[in-house]
Amino acid sequence: MYNSGKIIAGLAVFFILAALPFLLNLGKANAKIEPSIKTPEINAMPVKQCVESKEFMRAEHMQLLNDWRDEVVRNGNRIYTSKSNGKQYIISLQNTCMKCHSNKKEFCDKCHNYMAVKPYCWSCHIAPKEEKS
Ligand code: HEC
Ligand code: HEC
Ligand code: HEC
Repeated sequence: MYNSGKIIAGLAVFFILAALPFLLNLGKANAKIEPSIKTPEINAMPVKQCVESKEFMRAEHMQLLNDWRDEVVRNGNRIYTSKSNGKQYIISLQNTCMKCHSNKKEFCDKCHNYMAVKPYCWSCHIAPKEEKS
């Protein structure tokens, strides 16, 4: 007679070991797209916040940038009032976004490379000089 309990336990161990490389890899894939917010400007902020919530920025920053451009180019308006914190920001890719996110390579590019998107903005707009924080 065989012991079915031992066989099941053995199978369970086997499957966990077999799945381990995949589980570990998942962790790595996520770690790879952890964009860094360590810049002198952000380090100096008492409360670390973007122009809108992190969730909103993560999902909608492309649309927000389009809206910003339209505001300036079509409406001549250079002031943006945040919907989440009520603060006012000067509408500028270079002087507002990239002033805080002066580590473009470790921030914007980190996600974009991973997702294989290549915004074409930097042929006209000036990318920040990479500063060490
Ligand atoms: C005043 C400084 C500041 C400005 C200006 C700023 N950001 Fe941010 N940004 C931050 C901080 C701080 C965070 C992290 C927020 C958090 O963790 O809650 C962040 C988060 C983000 C995120 C989400 C990152 C993630 O890990 O999901 C994106 C995308 C982003 N910013 C893009 C932009 C863009 C595009 C602009 C210009 C429209 C901009 N930011 C302007 C400080 C700034
Ligand atoms: C948390 C990850 C993440 C960060 C950080 C991030 N982006 Fe993005 N960005 C994306 C993704 C994903 C897309 C593609 C979205 C899509 O196609 O719907 C994108 C698309 C864009 C686009 C539109 C490009 C196109 O061709 O449609 C622009 C512009 C852009 N990002 C600018 C920025 C700038 C500037 C920064 C740094 C201040 C930044 N992003 C930081 C993830 C990120
Ligand atoms: C062909 C050149 C060109 C390209 C490419 C370009 N822009 Fe612009 N952009 C301009 C010009 C010119 C203005 C008007 C500048 C002004 O009036 O201050 C402008 C204004 C803006 C503004 C508002 C003012 C400012 O100084 O930031 C935003 C935001 C903006 N663009 C975002 C983007 C983003 C995001 C991309 C990439 C998806 C992009 N632009 C690609 C030429 C370009």
